[in-house]
Amino acid sequence: MKILVTGGTGYIGSHTVVRLIENGFDSVIVDNLSNSKEDVVDKIRQITNVRPAFYKADLLDKESLSEIVKKEKPEAVIHFAGLKAVGESVALPLKYYHNNITGTLHLLEVMQENGIKDIVFSSSATVYGKPESVPIKEDFPLSATNPYGATKLMIEDILRDLYKADPTMNIAILRYFNPVGAHKSGLIGENPNGIPNNLVPYMMQVAAGKLEYLRVFGDDYNTKDGTGVRDYIHVEDLAGGHISALKKLAQRPGIVTYNLGTGIGYSVLDMVKEFSGVLGRELPYKICGRRPGDIDECYADTSLAKKEIGFAAEKNLKDMFVDGWNFQKTAER
Ligand code: NAD
Ligand code: UD1
Repeated sequence: MKILVTGGTGYIGSHTVVRLIENGFDSVIVDNLSNSKEDVVDKIRQITNVRPAFYKADLLDKESLSEIVKKEKPEAVIHFAGLKAVGESVALPLKYYHNNITGTLHLLEVMQENGIKDIVFSSSATVYGKPESVPIKEDFPLSATNPYGATKLMIEDILRDLYKADPTMNIAILRYFNPVGAHKSGLIGENPNGIPNNLVPYMMQVAAGKLEYLRVFGDDYNTKDGTGVRDYIHVEDLAGGHISALKKLAQRPGIVTYNLGTGIGYSVLDMVKEFSGVLGRELPYKICGRRPGDIDECYADTSLAKKEIGFAAEKNLKDMFVDGWNFQKTAER
């Protein structure tokens, strides 16, 4: 079965393409390389011995996308392509709405024109806004606190409307919690340009000596040690969740929505402690003020994904740091 993977050279996309190949799927990657590099295709080949088809194309260019789909004839789509930096989305909302929404509309139109009915979409725990309680279940109220989150929520709404109009579609909305870590080979992982915004990439750069210390954003949250609590999931586990979702779509379930997390919340200080253990030295940090927009706690109720698609994360926090650090060191060389 051939799968079109938009954003397939990106962080989560590349790990998922590896899993697709390992599970006997053919993949066709479409990526405009705005936040990834073409050499990822070769890294995927080094890991799997299979070089996936790759097209440098932009979802905003509907004609090119249409040509690729007509030529490759994929049977299903996994849609990762999108811009994802929360702070940048506040500064450049039109860029985010245009890229994420228009890109998705083009993709869905091309799918419709070519009779493709199955899609897995990368949503985010950000659609829960400021949750009233944890763990978070899929039927909790949805809201957006920034343009990035708004694009995720709008795309979810577009997919729900599309399903109402065409119940022969099969749609899996996957709400990722906090993906971290890297492939165990050290060949693919997350390597953000500039100073990272997210916790684990920032910690990696502190450990690598590129940044002096971690700024812990607030120690006065309503959590066990006052620092923010999140549900970190190894990107390899997350990639596996897409295979489970595709298998579910093959049973023609209509529209389904699942949290992909571990169900365990770790605080920023838990993260510092675990990574220091992996490094064999203390990771330097300073307690600073809160980051605007941050919430106290966010972790998943994972029972629905477990029940309906048999998904359960297997890797622990130590694996996430060992593999992430291995990638960071390989990327430095
Ligand atoms: P990423 O930036 O590494 O990958 C996204 C890829 O999409 C990049 O390779 C980029 O070049 C490509 N892209 C962007 N706009 C495009 C366009 N118009 N046409 C073609 N290609 C385009 O990000 P990621 O971390 O792998 O995230 C993948 C998806 O998962 C995104 O939709 C993101 O919003 C979502 N998500 C990510 C996280 C996270 O923490 N990483 C959490 C929740 C949801
Ligand atoms: C961020 C995004 C969210 C996105 C998620 C997954 C923001 C405001 N939110 O969430 O939309 O879905 O990533 O990609 O950017 N922290 C520090 N110091 C740092 C960085 C982070 O203490 O240098 C803390 C934060 O306060 C938070 C935790 O670490 O408590 C995790 O932060 P981060 O990795 O940015 O993820 P989220 O805030 O969960």
